[in-house]
Amino acid sequence: NSRGQGQSRRRFLQAAGALAATGAVPGPSWALAQVDDGFLELTARPAPKRLYENTGLPSDLWTYNGTAPGPEIRVKHRERVRVRLINELPEATSIHWHGIRIDNAMDGVAGLTQDPVPPGEVFEYDFEVPDAGTFWYHAHTKSWNQVGRGLYGALIVEENTPPTGREQDLVLVVDDWRLTRDGRLDTESFGSLHDWSHGGRLGNWLTVNGRTNPDFRLQAGEIYRLRIINAANARILAIDPKRIGGDLIAYDGQPLAVPRPFDWEVELMGPGQRFDLILRPEAESDLALVELSGNQPLTFARFPVEQGGAIKAPDVRLPKPNPFAAPDLGAARVFELDMTGGAMGRMGQILHKGEVLDRDGMRRTGQVWAFNGHAGNLEAPLFQAHLGETVVIRTRNLTRWPHAMHAHGHHFRILQDGALGEWRDTFLIAPEEQVEIAFQAENPGKWLFHCHMLEHAAGGMTSWFEVL
Ligand code: C2O
Ligand code: CU
Repeated sequence: NSRGQGQSRRRFLQAAGALAATGAVPGPSWALAQVDDGFLELTARPAPKRLYENTGLPSDLWTYNGTAPGPEIRVKHRERVRVRLINELPEATSIHWHGIRIDNAMDGVAGLTQDPVPPGEVFEYDFEVPDAGTFWYHAHTKSWNQVGRGLYGALIVEENTPPTGREQDLVLVVDDWRLTRDGRLDTESFGSLHDWSHGGRLGNWLTVNGRTNPDFRLQAGEIYRLRIINAANARILAIDPKRIGGDLIAYDGQPLAVPRPFDWEVELMGPGQRFDLILRPEAESDLALVELSGNQPLTFARFPVEQGGAIKAPDVRLPKPNPFAAPDLGAARVFELDMTGGAMGRMGQILHKGEVLDRDGMRRTGQVWAFNGHAGNLEAPLFQAHLGETVVIRTRNLTRWPHAMHAHGHHFRILQDGALGEWRDTFLIAPEEQVEIAFQAENPGKWLFHCHMLEHAAGGMTSWFEVL
């Protein structure tokens, strides 16, 4: 019930404050099993792990190789990634490589680009990484359940001349868990229709690389790169830039044309989104990642700065833009996408598998959202585009909830006052807002376009487009 959850949220937030000083230094503690044939092996399997560190009670997580996040996969620009997925879960699974402009057959979408991998079976992923940057991987079969239980990890593609040394390259995978009163992952509420029709599965406990409020020790005079990945099912992180500072250099793995001093009021980070930050800590700085969306600011990572370390030259080799085909707005074809449904909104008509759903139908199928009136439509594409064609998708959010829309296989530019803005692979859209994105269809195949609030995706906000 919501009252109990409110209380436990407050309790957990207070406990997080009390833990502030005790987080140990998170190291690269993830062992990646690389076998003789050059494949990395990722075994998806259940494993116990304590999320709430004040109690001895472990949660039943689903992990890659026993950890959540799973092992960090780190390769050089244009290298091949070969991963053997071994499924030791009680249900079928698959892996999606979020943000990679990948070969369609390797995209990992069960039911669209591959069959789900049944328990006891193996699937081999083999693809090249065309862009350098900060990406991630996660389960893409019943994602609301599997990602929510811990099946995700960082996928880092290094530039040939990275801006910082390897030791100064810090990856922070943030997750928002829902814990019960005894501090364990609440597994009973997975699939709750309330979550599906409202803001998704929101948690009450933040972790970074599976740790609560960890310390990352920095040396004054060094240059650091923070790669922040929002792996939450549904939480939009509201980060306070003033408590961390530095220069923002990339969104969703794609470098900005010009770095921006990270000094605005709040940085909203939808599920699935990433940003890269360059930090130059000074001796007295008190740096932290602070989340502003709750009742009170919540510190979820700290960066104590130590003296020493040679004072380095302050110049940084910033990452160069990745090689994208530029959208041609003059020749674009425009597709409209109206988002409807969800609690407290105009439901409109929701069509699912040829049936118009009434309230009971929604309860029975869990389909409560729609794109252009259709819920969870995998039978037909939203649109088709030819290779090389510029596509504009005009999205209108007619619901009472924000959404985080993600396109597979492509990055796109947000249109700002008719001009081409930032490159992204996931964008936030507020209620009543209209957002237009533009990209060149440059990757043949069937590509999902869905809300990355995983309960919304499962509850109807899933569609796809085809590049011919
Ligand atoms: Cu990161 Cu279709 O998802
Ligand atoms: Cu959504």
